[in-house]
Amino acid sequence: MIGYYKKFQKQSRLLRSRVNEGVVFLRRFVGAPRQVGSVMPSSPYLTRAMMDKIEWSQVQGIAELGAGTGVFTRAIVKKLKQGGHLLVFEIDPTLKAMIEAEHPGIAVYGDARELPQIMRNRNIRQLDCVVSSLPFAVLPPRMTAAILDAIDKTLKPGGKLVAYQYSKHMRPYFEKRFARVKISFVLRNVPPAFVYECTKA
Ligand SMILES: C[S@@+](CC[C@H](N)C(=O)[O-])C[C@H]1O[C@@H](n2cnc3c(N)ncnc32)[C@H](O)[C@@H]1O
Repeated sequence: MIGYYKKFQKQSRLLRSRVNEGVVFLRRFVGAPRQVGSVMPSSPYLTRAMMDKIEWSQVQGIAELGAGTGVFTRAIVKKLKQGGHLLVFEIDPTLKAMIEAEHPGIAVYGDARELPQIMRNRNIRQLDCVVSSLPFAVLPPRMTAAILDAIDKTLKPGGKLVAYQYSKHMRPYFEKRFARVKISFVLRNVPPAFVYECTKA
């Protein structure tokens, strides 16, 4: 009975913190809709679909772009092997502070365009993988191009960009830059999302 009660308490706490997270996220969206690009954090189904595209045993260096409230950050931290490098980017100061508070040991940066510079500062040569939640289709086109250049510069040959989008708008842009682009669809997310798995030549 006590065990059941403790489990119930833990689940209610988790639910409350997820609801709070959703409220913060929605507020940030209302303040900057084109930057945030979505009304609520990604679902566990989208999180799993994104994480399943990555061969975790091969990953030494990974960057997460557009971390939001950190739904993918939590999953990456669980999957990344010991000694692996994780660089997290979130441009919104409130969301960035939330991630820093939850993961004191992780380096969290602002604008994803700074990825190459930060890697130089940290002496990290190349990344095996980039996980992106950035709303490329609605960001200013120059920002999207600069971030794609930054990903191109920092991914190793054969490295992967795993990104989700709410449309196929970005398909030709990804196909121009990557040797292989695979797209899958996740219905159980608000809104449903396309997952792009892009492999560098
Ligand atoms: C669609 S939300 C995704 C949040 C979270 N990863 C998820 O899946 O629930 C996109 C996030 O990208 C962030 N963002 C937009 N432009 C950015 C940039 N240039 N650098 C870093 N983060 C950026 C936004 O502030 C927002 O939190």
